[in-house]
Amino acid sequence: MPMTEQSNTPVHVSIIMDGNGRWAKARGKERIYGHFEGVNSVRACTEAAVEAGVRYLSLFAFSEENWNRPAAEVETLMGLMMRSIEREVDSLMKNGVRFVVLGNLARLSEGLRAAIAGLMEKTAACDRLTLVVFLSYSGKWDILQASRRLAEDVAAGKVRPEDVDQDAFSQYLVTADIPDPDLLIRTSGEQRISNFLLWQCAYTEFYYTDVLWPDFRKPEFRAALDAYAHRARRFGKV
Ligand code: FPP
Repeated sequence: MPMTEQSNTPVHVSIIMDGNGRWAKARGKERIYGHFEGVNSVRACTEAAVEAGVRYLSLFAFSEENWNRPAAEVETLMGLMMRSIEREVDSLMKNGVRFVVLGNLARLSEGLRAAIAGLMEKTAACDRLTLVVFLSYSGKWDILQASRRLAEDVAAGKVRPEDVDQDAFSQYLVTADIPDPDLLIRTSGEQRISNFLLWQCAYTEFYYTDVLWPDFRKPEFRAALDAYAHRARRFGKV
């Protein structure tokens, strides 16, 4: 039975794309070739998500910590992001994919910020799948920026401390408009959260695979959905 007919298709699938460098190294190439090939996996998983009826696909593309990588790699990754945005716009629109970027965008170049804003605007009305790219993002950064803005609203008398519950706090996170992930996939055999969606993954199902990101394509994506379909989620209840 195709996944679209199953009731237990995750609404939101999130992916920590890992292993690009090792994929390239295993082929005697520079790390950046792994990132180039990784873009093809992004395309394949986006298509697979649309086909499966997943409503949100989010990708950890660049963490706040990734700014500490060698300048040349950071520059190439940002260039790759820019070119991907320019190249994929038609295909995203054709497939009904809304494009959203979340993170500490102030650290990005003005050119990249403008390209992101342009693509977000062009795809704003698309409603089959929302593709969320986390760029210059970290979970602790998100919780801190939310706390700071909430503190400002409390200080300004707009919010009463006794009204701050989980739902109210969530509204200050950059993911305010996005449901929490049902399924989090991490590739390349690593089994950590690496400062990704810390608040939002409280009840998320985790799926780990040894497959390196450049090799993670439609069959691997479908296998993860299949594993999810057999999980029993209890949200702390019996
Ligand atoms: C992790 O592999 C991957 C990244 C830090 C970058 C992921 C980015 C892309 C696939 C590029 C484009 C994304 C979009 C949305 C167009 P790694 O370098 O940490 O690999 P390693 O662990 O083997 O060193």
